[in-house]
Amino acid sequence: MDTNLDFDYRPKLGTRRDFGIGIIGAGAIVNAAHLPAYRKAGFNVVGITDADVARARETARKFEIAKVYETVEALVDDPAIHIVDIAVPPWNQLGLVRQAAAAGKHILCQKPLSNVYVEAVEIVQLAGAAGVKLAVNQQMRWDQAVRSARTLLSRGWLGDPVSATIDVGILTDWSAWPWLLTVEGLDLMYHSIHYFDSMRSLFGDPKQVWSVATRYPEQKPIGETHTHTLLDYASTFRALVAVNHNNWTTDRFATLRIEGTHGYLKGTFGLLYNYPYGRPDTLEFYSRAHYPHLTFQHVFEEMWIPDSFIGPMGELMRAIGEGREPETSGTDNLHTLRIVHAAYRSIEERRAVSPDEIA
Ligand SMILES: NC(=O)c1ccc[n+]([C@@H]2O[C@H](COP(=O)([O-])OP(=O)(O)OC[C@H]3O[C@@H](n4cnc5c(N)ncnc54)[C@H](O)[C@@H]3O)[C@@H](O)[C@H]2O)c1
Repeated sequence: MDTNLDFDYRPKLGTRRDFGIGIIGAGAIVNAAHLPAYRKAGFNVVGITDADVARARETARKFEIAKVYETVEALVDDPAIHIVDIAVPPWNQLGLVRQAAAAGKHILCQKPLSNVYVEAVEIVQLAGAAGVKLAVNQQMRWDQAVRSARTLLSRGWLGDPVSATIDVGILTDWSAWPWLLTVEGLDLMYHSIHYFDSMRSLFGDPKQVWSVATRYPEQKPIGETHTHTLLDYASTFRALVAVNHNNWTTDRFATLRIEGTHGYLKGTFGLLYNYPYGRPDTLEFYSRAHYPHLTFQHVFEEMWIPDSFIGPMGELMRAIGEGREPETSGTDNLHTLRIVHAAYRSIEERRAVSPDEIA
């Protein structure tokens, strides 16, 4: 059954979409997601650079990008570039934001904004002082199932939400990201951060965070790969994010379930069922009035990666055009990072931690 309902899930684009984009970093995510999404959206990628210029040249050839800059300075100084799109490991992001902001360019940062909270705050302050817009590529908010859930919640189809669960059991091949093998904080900082940000986009900020985490006996990375994080809203609603990267079976899953007083929703994140190929997201909805019958189920045409990468860049362009802050502004993102850091503190101190404790 597919009722062709309008879930209003697609990224909204402004009237002006031809802002010149300059990309710093020609690595895995730029090739797999940024550039395919921007091509689909018709965005104007002016040029690219990378510390390894050969990588930038190869990416430029693949995506027919006209300019390859030998240095970051040359990119940020090009008047044809309005938005600097940074996609490098987080510990290199602050220095690049400093350069882009000094050149008066708007900025799209990759997540995590920084792995060090005070540096994330400094990034936000740098952009504010320079008077440029800064957004974070926290694009799972634009994932088809997440955005549709937001629409259904806002239209009251679920009634009062009582519980939300993101439950992920996948087999992650960490060798695809060699630099992640040696980070101390792994799942929460680099993966579950998407789920925390998605929960925030649906339900706002939790009051407290409880988290437990562990490693898998044979795993290669030094960081945690199996986590459970409870987001406590100090109300009749609570959210759980449960992630296991060591599911060696063929029974892989990546689901979002939201239970409300009137309705129940189940979404799947298709990308994670056989990453990086994936399959589209799905959505099922049960209305309490029709239960036990399924009210509708839907299979989307798009996928989390690359399609949702149109979201943060499109939203940043709209924010520039409308003179307002983007939805995933740096300031907003500090709230997501506070959940991540509260979760690590919770693990270390074996207690519930308020995100407000993180400063
Ligand atoms: N939003 C998402 O869903 C998502 C998904 C994957 C990765 N990421 C983030 O994207 C970033 C990049 O990840 P990746 O997997 O593409 O990494 P990668 O290692 O494949 O690519 C990073 C590239 O950045 C270049 N680089 C590093 N420092 C630089 C500097 N100072 N100046 C110029 N170039 C520099 C490297 O040479 C490399 O080519 C990370 O922060 C990661 O967390 C986000």
